[in-house]
Amino acid sequence: MELDDVVRRRRMTRRYDPDRTVPDEVLTRCLENAVRAPSAGFSQGWDFVVLRTAPERDRFWAATTQPGQPADPWLRGIREAPVLILCLSHKDAYLDRYAEPDKGWTDRSERHWPVPYWDVDTGMAALLILLTAVDSGLGSLFFGVPVEHHETVHAAFGIPASRSVVGVVSLGYARPGPRSPSLRRHRRTGAEVTHWGRFGRR
Ligand SMILES: Cc1cc2nc3c(=O)[nH]c(=O)nc-3n(C[C@H](O)[C@H](O)[C@H](O)COP(=O)(O)O)c2cc1C
Repeated sequence: MELDDVVRRRRMTRRYDPDRTVPDEVLTRCLENAVRAPSAGFSQGWDFVVLRTAPERDRFWAATTQPGQPADPWLRGIREAPVLILCLSHKDAYLDRYAEPDKGWTDRSERHWPVPYWDVDTGMAALLILLTAVDSGLGSLFFGVPVEHHETVHAAFGIPASRSVVGVVSLGYARPGPRSPSLRRHRRTGAEVTHWGRFGRR
């Protein structure tokens, strides 16, 4: 598929066909493409925990919902996804990398960092997974884990405290679903968001 088509066809998928598994080669392709993402200082402070069996996925949903919580339509749709990929960032990998002689931030202070590039880079890797999914004929969604569930997700999957869960990518063959209310918002155009030479100059 042409790059422009992949980019334009990528839409978040919130309902999946539970009976169609994601072929291993497609999953491998997604993960091999993820590591082609750029990263500050080539720190590559990302990890991916892949959940592809029912007990693994159930463990995730148990960790992120209240016991007995009725499943809303969003949850019912997403729960059918055959694969969940937890996208983790590793801040220390960046602090260590930038303490090396060619960077020189030997104090490992976070004050040097204008934004948390460890999370930015993991987000870029996640986007490559989403685009690879489109190119492979799959649907996908990037979604966040509510802050109150991070501890339980860490415990459920043995994720070290040094890692942060930036978000989760669900993957699978798409089924038609309701449009997200967010899409009532207008998609800002390239012209609207571009400032030529200085802010505000169109
Ligand atoms: C950082 C981030 C967090 C998101 N979290 C959620 C989420 O928790 N649940 C959800 O259904 N969609 C989530 N989305 C998807 C957005 O709602 C979606 O990208 C947006 O509405 C535009 O739709 P599109 O991606 O299909 O073009 C998230 C997207 C991003 C980038």
